[in-house]
Amino acid sequence: MSQLQLSKDSWSSQTVFIMAAVGSAVGLGNLWKFPYITGENGGGAFVLVYLGCVLLIGIPVLLSELALGRAGKANPVQAMANVARENGGSRLWGLLGLNGVLAGALILSFYTVIAGWAVSYFVDSLKGVFIGIDANAVGEHFSGLLANPYELIFWHTVVTLFTVIVVAKGIKSGIEKAITFMMPGLLLILLVLLGYATTTGAFTQSLNFLFAPDFSKLTWQAVLTAMGHAFFTLSIGLGTMMVYGSYLSKEYSIVKAGLWIAFADTIVALLAGLVIFSIVFANGLEAGSGPGLLFQTLPVAFGEMAGGWFFGTLFFALVVMAALSSAISLIEPAVSWFDQNWGIKRVKAAWILGFIIWTIGIGTVLSFNEWSDLHFLGERTFFDSVDYITANIMLPLGGLLMAVFVAWILKDDVRSQEIPLSGNLMSVFIFVLKWIAPIAVMVVFSTNLVADDAVVTMVLITFALYAIYVWNAKRDKS
Ligand code: PHE
Repeated sequence: MSQLQLSKDSWSSQTVFIMAAVGSAVGLGNLWKFPYITGENGGGAFVLVYLGCVLLIGIPVLLSELALGRAGKANPVQAMANVARENGGSRLWGLLGLNGVLAGALILSFYTVIAGWAVSYFVDSLKGVFIGIDANAVGEHFSGLLANPYELIFWHTVVTLFTVIVVAKGIKSGIEKAITFMMPGLLLILLVLLGYATTTGAFTQSLNFLFAPDFSKLTWQAVLTAMGHAFFTLSIGLGTMMVYGSYLSKEYSIVKAGLWIAFADTIVALLAGLVIFSIVFANGLEAGSGPGLLFQTLPVAFGEMAGGWFFGTLFFALVVMAALSSAISLIEPAVSWFDQNWGIKRVKAAWILGFIIWTIGIGTVLSFNEWSDLHFLGERTFFDSVDYITANIMLPLGGLLMAVFVAWILKDDVRSQEIPLSGNLMSVFIFVLKWIAPIAVMVVFSTNLVADDAVVTMVLITFALYAIYVWNAKRDKS
């Protein structure tokens, strides 16, 4: 095949690109997932590991992924095939892109369900349901929602439709428009909530919970969750940043964009955590109560504070938008793959994929009610299993292989053209990609092997692949 598949779309400016990438990174991962997994894993020490992973593994992989996308100029499957061919790597690298396309679809299948909760909360807030409500009543409201599969399916459908419609419209008119006004709004309202959090009387306790590490509470399973979350929250390891990078023209700086993305993403997560745990502690709620945490806490704040109806409604609208800008980026790798490699036009591709993903999502809906006793992968419900396989295995594995590619296989001149770091910084960057990131991911995988048999096969495959690729790269370069 001599004809290269190229992305023809492009971002209208560097700022728009950064906003879209931040829009992808900032989503339910920050507002919903980060607080609840932090609560489940005991706070401080978990947060520290997560921050360490963002800095040491996340940012280098993020830069690598953006660079691979821009150099490969196509959807993840084709981009990997392109850069592999141009840099003397194996065609099998296309499989890395495929891992991402699949992971994106799987994540989206539950993402739309959770975003659906936020839409239903937006409507309830608008109707005034949360005015003056106390923690108990919010808890009941939430359980009531989860117990009703039809309602959940309804909202899941609404979000899936939204996503498909925006993606079908394409990069310029769809994705860019949705994002430009949303990010500042989200930050603003988080600051208002932060102001409220300081009045709850539990703000210091919340600060301590998040930032005073107690390592006796840390398990290897928690380390894997923290690492997986670093990938999830930065939208890396599955090709989202690769497609977004493929629409990026040469004169824009990947380093600058990458640092902005990581910074904005981390700030939003920490703010959300601070606010939510202040409410948790002030109301004697359970920090480790799981996926419902955001939905069982914030309405209490809105119920109590002045202007709560307004801020509450606006907040849930923003959660929905933050989720949508991430949702479209989850489906984009698959849509552009259908479009560029299979000749299925964007609009049709979006609808077909949307339908498949919607169907898988029904499993997540049911895992909160009818199927709550049905377990896969050990003690996990359908939702927990999909979350576990994607965030804890597929994304770290994908990110690891991207790091390996950029460090061992990408030609030096291509690398320094895409990621122009000065001498020393470049050596550190390459060292991290070659050794720190892959080994950290593999160590975390293999220590979990003891605790969780489901990982055994994946770990063995990872080790084998790493060995083969490093060997392959050395042979090609010599
Ligand atoms: N980063 C998004 C969030 O935090 C989720 C996401 C993961 C989006 C992977 C795209 C790719 O909500």
